[in-house]
Amino acid sequence: MIISNIGFMPVDSNRVAYLRGHDMNRLESIKDAWLRIEGWVVKEWGAMADFPSTDGSEEIVDAKGGCVLPSFCDSHTHTVYAGSRELEFVDKIHGLSYEEIARRGGGILNSADLLQRTSEDELFRQSLERAREVMAMGTGCLEIKSGYGLTTESELKMLRVIARIAESVPMRVKATFLGAHAVGRAYAGRQTEYVDMLCREMLPAVAAEGLAEFVDVFCDEGFFTPVETTRIMEEAARYGMLPKIHANELAVSGGVQAGVAAGAVSVDHLERITDVESALLGGSGTVATLLPGASFFLGMPYGPARMLMKDNAIVALASDYNPGSSPSGNMRMVMSLGCIKMKMTPEEAFNAVTLNGAAAMQLGHDYGSIACGKVANFFITKPVSSFEFLPYAYSTPLIERVYLNGMEVK
Ligand code: NIG
Ligand code: FE
Repeated sequence: MIISNIGFMPVDSNRVAYLRGHDMNRLESIKDAWLRIEGWVVKEWGAMADFPSTDGSEEIVDAKGGCVLPSFCDSHTHTVYAGSRELEFVDKIHGLSYEEIARRGGGILNSADLLQRTSEDELFRQSLERAREVMAMGTGCLEIKSGYGLTTESELKMLRVIARIAESVPMRVKATFLGAHAVGRAYAGRQTEYVDMLCREMLPAVAAEGLAEFVDVFCDEGFFTPVETTRIMEEAARYGMLPKIHANELAVSGGVQAGVAAGAVSVDHLERITDVESALLGGSGTVATLLPGASFFLGMPYGPARMLMKDNAIVALASDYNPGSSPSGNMRMVMSLGCIKMKMTPEEAFNAVTLNGAAAMQLGHDYGSIACGKVANFFITKPVSSFEFLPYAYSTPLIERVYLNGMEVK
């Protein structure tokens, strides 16, 4: 297949797996171009002036002057959940903080109660709808966490639903076990016993069914400590699960240090981070994942993208799509927030929602950019005046056609 008449297309001649620091501002591109796909991978591209000869059997798709952009790679979501939490949204309007709502037994535990009462099929139905929603908005790789089960049975139910979603959509889906998202109700006031149970019962059960590649812990004030986090990461390592850690959303938690020490794939949130932690991330291979949608929705500080990039970190942006702190999986909006609120350049923000997002799921070698041999995940937009128009016109619908694994998604 050849896509012709492409107005603008970012390309990656070197097939890199991530970009760090200053390099994040680099975006190689071509104008008035064509792109050839063979099977499910990108084969070659060139200028329209040198349009290749074809034998007539090859399908040609006219991009009509629109952009061809690599699909978004959303490396941090909680898109499997039951129902929604708009009543807490109203509580927040009336002045309650996220921590206050959690302390009143709301928040994550509220979602867990509902999820426990919801059948696996119904959970699948609701979650599949969200997966299809983000796919239509340009996402091609999606990480999904458990963590609204908080009992062994319900965590397994969530992870099985994630596996079913992975089989049901052409997106590349990665599963993360987040049993340490909150202490389950049956263990209220007995956090250590909950962590014991998680290590003794949940982790082996998850591993036995091969349901998660990554492990996550909500390492934050009022949730889990760095010591508990390290224990869970060590236990999970015995089953080959790599850590991706929630850290520093509510306070400077020690989660960054714990994560980097354990060789975490990513540490995520980082709304509150010191320069020492930023430098630590810059000197590590751990991706610093910022979630501006949560800052926007909860009125929190935005993660310091500029400081992290100055310190040479690999910075990714993700949606955090979840019912409590970011009920949206719109990666274009995430990119715009990166520009508007974090002062990232459009190029930096774009690399953060594509290539570095892929790296935060250990998919950077095969996804995240238009490169020879990488999987052909991309979308075609309406013609736009410039690349910068994309984050600027942050709510204008621009996506015309979506292709995943070299095939159009209808
Ligand atoms: O990433 N911070 C922890 N977990 C989610 C929010 C979960 C919820 O409120 O349901 C987050 O923001
Ligand atoms: Fe999260």
